[in-house]
Amino acid sequence: MLAHGAARPGRHPRRTHRSVRIGLPTVARMIDEKTRAKRIGILGTGTLAEALGTGWLRAGHEVVVGGRSPDKARALADRLGGDTRAVPLPEVGEGCDAVLLAVLWSGVEDVLRAAGADRGVLAGTALIDPTNAVEHGVGALLTGPDESAAQRVAALAPGARVVKAFHLFPAAAWTRPPGADPVTVAICGDDAEALRVTGELVRDVGGVPAVVGPLQRARQLEEAAGFVIALAFAGFDPATAVPHA
Ligand SMILES: NC(=O)c1ccc[n+]([C@@H]2O[C@H](COP(=O)([O-])OP(=O)(O)OC[C@H]3O[C@@H](n4cnc5c(N)ncnc54)[C@H](OP(=O)(O)O)[C@@H]3O)[C@@H](O)[C@H]2O)c1
Repeated sequence: MLAHGAARPGRHPRRTHRSVRIGLPTVARMIDEKTRAKRIGILGTGTLAEALGTGWLRAGHEVVVGGRSPDKARALADRLGGDTRAVPLPEVGEGCDAVLLAVLWSGVEDVLRAAGADRGVLAGTALIDPTNAVEHGVGALLTGPDESAAQRVAALAPGARVVKAFHLFPAAAWTRPPGADPVTVAICGDDAEALRVTGELVRDVGGVPAVVGPLQRARQLEEAAGFVIALAFAGFDPATAVPHA
């Protein structure tokens, strides 16, 4: 029998013991962080705001909404129910774990300015950009040849941790019944924490997050949406236009 505290050959009891003592609170914190209800701000009061707001409330999160029309924001908060609050645009990001920019591309600059993003109000916050800056019915990108909507958003919201996500699937994908086949949601961004939070919010509405790289990859993700939109408007099912692995 080994004396108390003696090491078995090939084992390191003290190191194992110490790593458990240090590791458990860390693991507990990680689990706590994963399961903790989040506060999510939504800029915009339309179709996508309502769908993702519904999905995140179902997942137990708190939702705060704001739009250029306070009446529409109040109406959306009423429809979403629970303790959803409608607040003025500059307050949407307050205390939020993430903010969703659910606004038509043509309104993005105005809404970000009204929310105080140009003054750094969203600095440090995960800012999820689901916008499609595309020509309606055609799918061609409206941004310049070497830029993306998400990078433009990042320039309009200094310090915000922008993540491109939720731009490819129709809004109805996020309110499907539990147990529906998961969809892969390609996301990209420069900030690891913002990607982690966004990934959890993707999972909360039945998606599987796939991080494809930094925000520089956003153009590619946005082109993919333009491609899907172009096919759909031309009467083809985009799902049949990509090879199955
Ligand atoms: N719906 C989808 O299936 C889907 C899927 C993926 C991505 N997206 C993207 O998500 C974003 C929102 O889409 P949505 O379907 O929710 O659109 P929506 O139902 O038309 O709602 C658009 C929102 O943007 C606001 N808005 C529009 N123009 C504005 C302006 N000039 N200034 C300030 N606010 C303005 C609207 O405010 P008012 O009501 O006051 O006009 C409304 O709150 C878009 O960028 C879209 O490309 C949508």
